[in-house]
Amino acid sequence: MPEADVSKKEKNFYADIPQKNELFFLKGSNNYDWGMKNRLARIFNPASGRTVMLAFDHGYFQGPTTGLERVDISILPLAPYADALMLTRGILRSIIPPSTQKAVVMRASGGPSILKELSNEQIAVDMEDAVRMNVSAVAVQVFVGGEFETQSVHNLTRLVDAGMRAGIPVLGVTAVGKDMVRDAKYMRLAVRICAELGAAFVKTYYVEQDFESVTASCPVPIVIAGGKKLPEPEALDMAYNAISRGASGVDMGRNIFQSDAPTAMIQAVRKVVHEGMKPKEAFEFYEKMKKSN
Ligand code: R5P
Repeated sequence: MPEADVSKKEKNFYADIPQKNELFFLKGSNNYDWGMKNRLARIFNPASGRTVMLAFDHGYFQGPTTGLERVDISILPLAPYADALMLTRGILRSIIPPSTQKAVVMRASGGPSILKELSNEQIAVDMEDAVRMNVSAVAVQVFVGGEFETQSVHNLTRLVDAGMRAGIPVLGVTAVGKDMVRDAKYMRLAVRICAELGAAFVKTYYVEQDFESVTASCPVPIVIAGGKKLPEPEALDMAYNAISRGASGVDMGRNIFQSDAPTAMIQAVRKVVHEGMKPKEAFEFYEKMKKSN
């Protein structure tokens, strides 16, 4: 039993000061429950409203791709500079120290390898296990226009239902098939479908033409994938353009871990995403960090 309140100090209920009732900082996320918002606030920095997610889940269909042969050696040193780690549960449990303070975005769909039809994915993680791993979000690939489009959309909606019960947001990852045209028209369609069907945030590719129309017509935050390895100035340029045209962050893999200087690169990407640093200055910063490492 607590002790009786015997303080002689006069109580103050601040009756003339209304209780703070602030809006949640993230686009389209104000009507979620507390746990969902708290998890989103671990992924997206509430100060900038943005995120640098480090993606190294490629092994779920590609195996030990270049740069990810030894995740313990290549990725762990980068983790301190990321807001969130996007990975598989196999890598989480085998490599990532449970003492990490980083948000985890867990790849939760899979099935086919690069040797097969990629759109034929199924849900690959139970929400119960996602809760056990204390993840901040689960990610599911959605193949709009793909051979198994409906199945992949169904994977998304089932995860959203389970995620709503557990308070875990779902990241819809738009996968652009080989036969699709990677343009704003396709991206608008794919991201909007993910958002309409309950994804709390959506990952897509940056496109030069009309990217604003993709971010504007998506009611939840968009993060961009890095895509194939580009020269560092171009990757920083892409990150800057995406952010200044409405993206809320990057979920970048190869352009960081395949860089000549991954630690310098992720720090430069952070400057662009969180501080709005111009690409030219960010590249100079990259060169400086590269020399000092
Ligand atoms: C996508 O399917 C992969 O799982 C990666 O998470 C994604 O492609 C981002 O990585 P990258 O920046 O290398 O494209």
